[in-house]
Amino acid sequence: MSDSTSAYPLSLSTHPEVHGFFDPATNTISYVVRDPASDACAVIDSVMDIDYAAGRITYEHADEIVAFITARGWRLEWLIETHVHADHLSAAPYIQGKLGGKIGIGERITLVQETFGKIFNEGTEFQRDGSQFDALFKDGDTYSIGSMQAVAMHTPGHTPACMTHVIGDAAFVGDTLFMPDGGSARADFPGGDAGELYDSIQKVLALPDTMRLFMCHDYGPNGRDIRWETTVADEKAHNIHVGQGKTREDFIRFRTERDATLAMPKLIIPSLQVNMRAGEIPTDTSGRPMLKVPVNGL
Ligand SMILES: [Fe+2]
Repeated sequence: MSDSTSAYPLSLSTHPEVHGFFDPATNTISYVVRDPASDACAVIDSVMDIDYAAGRITYEHADEIVAFITARGWRLEWLIETHVHADHLSAAPYIQGKLGGKIGIGERITLVQETFGKIFNEGTEFQRDGSQFDALFKDGDTYSIGSMQAVAMHTPGHTPACMTHVIGDAAFVGDTLFMPDGGSARADFPGGDAGELYDSIQKVLALPDTMRLFMCHDYGPNGRDIRWETTVADEKAHNIHVGQGKTREDFIRFRTERDATLAMPKLIIPSLQVNMRAGEIPTDTSGRPMLKVPVNGL
């Protein structure tokens, strides 16, 4: 069944199996999304573990996902990044090395690479054309996971490259929205824009009411248990930042004031250097893995 009220090709009769993997160190939820008709699957927003104080990288969270897929004999076709994350490092190349699949992100990654290429004073060997990724999606692009058709919706605002991926009756919103009692993500990173974020949230809320929505983060506001799944109808009725008739102007004012009070994410410096390279760790001139800290650069 396609939904003629949406500008995007939707298929609400497709019900992918969705498994969330919560990472308590960064409050990130990674997903395995499986086509019940073919055993093909995708991984969305994987996490590589880092002990930043020690400069140590490990793969417990990614290994859990690899073991989960391997045990079921599923075939990994895609590793999707909803955006360049600033609070955790992607494990996409690590998982790709174990299970295959293509790494995809929004085509505006090039803007993020331009911006942060300057901030980290990257040399000319750092390509700003998105070529580190296997696929760059633009608004409305479709791709398949087994027999399922997925569609990428450009939902900028939190970052310029943010995409929401709609797979059957499930939408993976990245940091465009949080659970209704969490509201929305910040829009003050370089290239972020509160007005654009409001418009992108409206795009998500224009999806069918029954669409399942899956968050990239949850912080358990007011002491509740961690949750990551809701629906368009629930967000429309209860989101504390954009529901209940709040206007675009209200949202921009609120978001701008709130963002001014927020500290930088603890892992923003390593995250951006790795994630703008599709999850590869940069190397120094001798080829050793090495991260930089730009002093007063952010
Ligand atoms: Fe984010």
